[in-house]
Amino acid sequence: MEQKPVSLEDIVSLSKRRGFIYPGSEIYGGLAGTFDYGPLGVALKKNIENLWWRRFVEERDDMYGVDAAILMNPKAWEASGHVAGFSDPLVECPKCNSRYRADHLQEDSNGLLRCPKDNEILSAPRQFNMMFATKIGATQDDSATVYLRPETAGGMFVNFKNVVDSFHPKLPFGLAQIGKAFRNEIAPRDFIFRVRELEQMEIEYFVRPSEWEAAFEAWRVSMHEYAKEIGLPTENVHELEVADGDRAHYSKRTIDFEFDYPFGRKELWGLAYRTDFDLSAHQEASSQSLAYMDEESKEKLVPHVIEPSFGVGRTMLAVLASAYREDELGGETRSYLALSPKVAPIKAMVSPLLKNKPELVEKAKIVRQELQKVHPAIAWDDNGNIGKRYRRQDEIGTPFCITVDFDTLGETPELKDTVTLRHRDSGEQERLSIAEAAERIRQAIA
Ligand code: GAP
Repeated sequence: MEQKPVSLEDIVSLSKRRGFIYPGSEIYGGLAGTFDYGPLGVALKKNIENLWWRRFVEERDDMYGVDAAILMNPKAWEASGHVAGFSDPLVECPKCNSRYRADHLQEDSNGLLRCPKDNEILSAPRQFNMMFATKIGATQDDSATVYLRPETAGGMFVNFKNVVDSFHPKLPFGLAQIGKAFRNEIAPRDFIFRVRELEQMEIEYFVRPSEWEAAFEAWRVSMHEYAKEIGLPTENVHELEVADGDRAHYSKRTIDFEFDYPFGRKELWGLAYRTDFDLSAHQEASSQSLAYMDEESKEKLVPHVIEPSFGVGRTMLAVLASAYREDELGGETRSYLALSPKVAPIKAMVSPLLKNKPELVEKAKIVRQELQKVHPAIAWDDNGNIGKRYRRQDEIGTPFCITVDFDTLGETPELKDTVTLRHRDSGEQERLSIAEAAERIRQAIA
């Protein structure tokens, strides 16, 4: 059966139906730009994050993890330029009051921006700051204004000195953080692609100024390796060199990693050379020295920064879009997720052939416990017929289904303590010992 192109609706519908992602505050009609992760979504998200953390923090000697506060002293966001400049051009329709980002619309033949709903000429663009402001403490005047961080990066720059003082790392080294960020997007859209409450996995990698190009190149390569590990097809990940006028205010070079989403080629991740912009700005605004004593050159310097930045939601959407398939198996059409076993929320499902045979159920429970020594995410399903159980697991991307039958119990003596292991993508089954089935799972997630 020929693969039909994946639509965003396919992914939204499967995500809701099977408990990956729900609209935020749904019983109250939702809240635009927010989404809630259900049991399978949170498992997939954590797997994506854990692989990132393992690869970029735990497996390296030059990386330091932090988890900084979301609320920061507002002076940090003044110094970083976000209070003055973290804005998008907002245009409004005088008739229906709809609001749009001017840079997301096409001018008409007269150079005018028109409302996509009623064709009215839109207002002139005005800069709209995307930071969410709130008040801290009991005071309600302007002095109590704080911001929900618009990027996790800020929490790393303000902890640069702490980490240097505690760990005395040698250049180059980096800080890494996974956490929430908030942006009051004018037009959230495309499911979890553009949201107002997002999660980022970011690295601030500090280098000697003369070494930035080599570090930039090394991170560019590492980002592609991570994309491969989580199952993004190489041919769907592209690089875009961001032009001079289009880069963020702090960046001297940016590559956008783009992905072929069902709604077009769009930004997945970013890689930026932030120079010493942030450390110098924080040094000046805080009157704290953020200079680093380079023991090698006996020189004091403010390090420069390479920043690989990954949106968790966009990564997850790319993973889901890459994995979604429809085919025909055993005369029935099915939809399934061909997830890499490394990110799959459930690694295998164990099932007794018949749920009303206590000896099968008991043995299947023992098999499950054995497999859980390899990984705890081994599901149990004894509902409905075996075909239906397989379909349910296929749809959520479980790579293996393991069935315990009478041969497992020794009905055919030479098959005692063997199980059937079914492969999600091909539907093929093989007969294996319990130990071999465990080994299959171990190898798939290694
Ligand atoms: N610290 C650099 C920074 O935040 P960015 O390009 O604004 O740079 C980095 O954001 C990444 O965060 C993006 O490449 C994307 O993956 C994700 N991201 C940004 N805005 C987002 C939004 N509104 N919704 C979902 N993800 C977003």
